[in-house]
Amino acid sequence: MSTTPIYDCIVLGAGAAGMFCAAQAGARGLRVLLLEAGERAGRKILISGGGRCNFTNIHAGPANYLSENPHFAKSALARYTPRDFITLVEKYRIPYHEKTLGQLFCDGSAQQIVSLLETECRNSNVETKLRTAVERMEQTDTGFRVHTSAGEFTARNVVVATGGLSIPKLGATGVGYDIARSFGLRIVEPRAALVPFTLSDTERELWCDLSGLSAEAIATTAPQKKGPTPKFREKILITHRGWSGPAVLQISSYWRQGEVVLFDLAPTANVFTPMLAANHRRDDATAFALLRAHLPQRMAERWLYENAPPDWKNTSITKLEERLHAWPVTPAGTEGFAKAEVTAGGVSTTELDSTTMQAKKVPGLAFIGEVVDVTGWLGGYNFQWAWASAHAAAMAL
Ligand code: FDA
Repeated sequence: MSTTPIYDCIVLGAGAAGMFCAAQAGARGLRVLLLEAGERAGRKILISGGGRCNFTNIHAGPANYLSENPHFAKSALARYTPRDFITLVEKYRIPYHEKTLGQLFCDGSAQQIVSLLETECRNSNVETKLRTAVERMEQTDTGFRVHTSAGEFTARNVVVATGGLSIPKLGATGVGYDIARSFGLRIVEPRAALVPFTLSDTERELWCDLSGLSAEAIATTAPQKKGPTPKFREKILITHRGWSGPAVLQISSYWRQGEVVLFDLAPTANVFTPMLAANHRRDDATAFALLRAHLPQRMAERWLYENAPPDWKNTSITKLEERLHAWPVTPAGTEGFAKAEVTAGGVSTTELDSTTMQAKKVPGLAFIGEVVDVTGWLGGYNFQWAWASAHAAAMAL
């Protein structure tokens, strides 16, 4: 076992948040140790954004995040903005583009963002130890002792950046939650978010032979107890197990087991109401022709097969129009952490100081990135939270 030097700060986890925090703390002249269980740093960044890393969103603001306390992220997000990270990307001459809805992607590869972070860490004299799994930690007279698979390390401060539970095959562990609990901090139950829905056997039989078909829709939930009802207008996609696509992933973060989600399958259009006009043909074939303008042929056929009224009276047509714009789907569940892009829930924001990210009960112990109960929408928001929370923690050390 190593007898260890005292560091100013040990950062646990070399993902987006951990690498960025270590680099910024090192740049302030602090002696920083970055510990990572995996064989390389930034593994999730490499697979992000389909390999091109959607590294921020130019519209990122507090409204794009879920948390028990929707105000918690405000301070960090205001002090390190998308523009700040873009400036860094430009300094490294990494070409990028806006794909859609403010989402910025590398033109080349996500490896460029990992290289940027590695270079920043190197330039800041951060000591990085890979293949070093953190097991537990405790407080000492002078700070903290971290127990790992490669020995013990001590430091004045510790920043926990070990991420959430999504994608276990890329090294996700619950160690950050265990550490928080060992210091008596509350955890908001972690749950899979930005994740495809699964359907019951019956529903799967009805829909999943159409897997691969997609349509533009608005996905929403029943009204929320607190705050505005989320609405996402993007693609929905039928999979061999249920529903996916960006609008579905977005709404999944708000969904709880047993709840209904609503799809508007023809946003802003009046699809069937033309049939109300005098002399307009009213029959299944006409309804199909009208719906076909908005949905792929087989999706339109199937939807009408399932939902067409027994007659084409005015009230039936009106009801069908309403149903098309608020079509209820009850997922059986989600594809879980194996497929979830992020983990919602985590270390409760009530336990943390929003300007330093440190535990109020344990000064010197900070939590950043996905391990915290702050979860971004799909579209670069989660990396922006990683950068911003990392910056806040590093500036407070
Ligand atoms: P992250 O999970 O990145 O890092 C945690 C690190 O801690 C890991 O390296 C892990 O190995 C390490 N670790 C865990 N346990 C440990 C232990 N016991 N000891 C030592 N180390 C340990 N977001 C976005 O904004 N734009 C995008 O394009 C995408 N795309 C995307 C695609 C896919 C497929 C996924 C799964 C996720 C995304 N995301 C995303 C989400 C984004 O990747 C995620 O929010 C951030 O990586 C979170 O950064 P963290 O540093 O907090 O955790």
